[in-house]
Amino acid sequence: MAAPLPLLKTSLLAGTVGVITGAGSGIGAAAVRCFAAAGAKAIYASDIVDRNLQAVADGVAQEGYESEVVGVKTDVTKAEQVEALVRKVIAEHGRLDWFFANAGIVDFEVLNTTTPEALTRMLDVNVVGAFNSVQWAARGMMNPSDAKPSPGGSIIVTTSLAATFGGMGAPAYTISKHATVGLVRAAATNLGMAGTGIRVNGVGPGPTATAIGQNNMRGASPAAMAAMMERAQHAAADPAVMSAVAPPEYIAQAAVFLASDMAAGINGENIIADKGLRQKPDPFSGLMFNPSIEPL
Ligand SMILES: NC(=O)c1ccc[n+]([C@@H]2O[C@H](COP(=O)([O-])OP(=O)(O)OC[C@H]3O[C@@H](n4cnc5c(N)ncnc54)[C@H](O)[C@@H]3O)[C@@H](O)[C@H]2O)c1
Repeated sequence: MAAPLPLLKTSLLAGTVGVITGAGSGIGAAAVRCFAAAGAKAIYASDIVDRNLQAVADGVAQEGYESEVVGVKTDVTKAEQVEALVRKVIAEHGRLDWFFANAGIVDFEVLNTTTPEALTRMLDVNVVGAFNSVQWAARGMMNPSDAKPSPGGSIIVTTSLAATFGGMGAPAYTISKHATVGLVRAAATNLGMAGTGIRVNGVGPGPTATAIGQNNMRGASPAAMAAMMERAQHAAADPAVMSAVAPPEYIAQAAVFLASDMAAGINGENIIADKGLRQKPDPFSGLMFNPSIEPL
């Protein structure tokens, strides 16, 4: 595992309290560091697998950040668990300023081997889980208190580059991630029309250096496993592909920006954080010009 990316310490989120789902691994774990580096007062780091949450919290303390990190075991597919998480935040801090709905799973099946059960499971975690998060986050952000008299806040959903075209991920995953963009747009419109002061945006990672593949291999068909291993070896040998892989902090920092008042004018958008990969899927790209540039 690569060393954690050095972070710029800011006060963008000073005094704020929020939640990160899927915080035990990958982008979510990196987000705990990044929201701490932005000065968040308290970070509720939640995951369905809670064994890594203490290490994530300890890492923040070891880096010298002052955020309180609270680990909470939560399955985002269970609305009552997401409700309990939001109620805990409000009970303990009287405010919910941002919510990073990041938990998600992938699969590796082609159209032919995708079962209705596998598709349903994918939609349950990636879409219903994100929906539960957005709905309860919005309710928590509407809660008036002495700590936060006016409603409002920022919800960020981890979408994907696979939400923008068909060939980036397996079909079930692609379907689910397209739906997350619909969720972002519908929720932003509803909450905007209701005058809540709550913004909802997506951050769409391209290939990101996490253990998402290993974390979701169980149950994959032998054909899908073989294809994945072959593709992974091919990709690992291709410098152009490997240079597109981002550290998870690149995604998390975009979420920090969207959570902050710096993004006050951005609502209902899906910000793609793919190091420019989406701009060059065309095999003819670069044939008609020389992309090098001379220094001054
Ligand atoms: N890594 C990539 O290349 C990539 C690319 C595009 C999008 N994404 C998205 O980024 C998000 C984070 O992925 P990651 O790469 O960090 O993967 P990861 O597997 O490292 O982390 C995902 C976390 O979500 C948790 N989780 C799974 N189901 C859950 C549930 N029902 N309730 C609560 N937590 C649950 C897992 O336990 C895990 O800790 C996902 O939504 C994923 O689809 C990742």
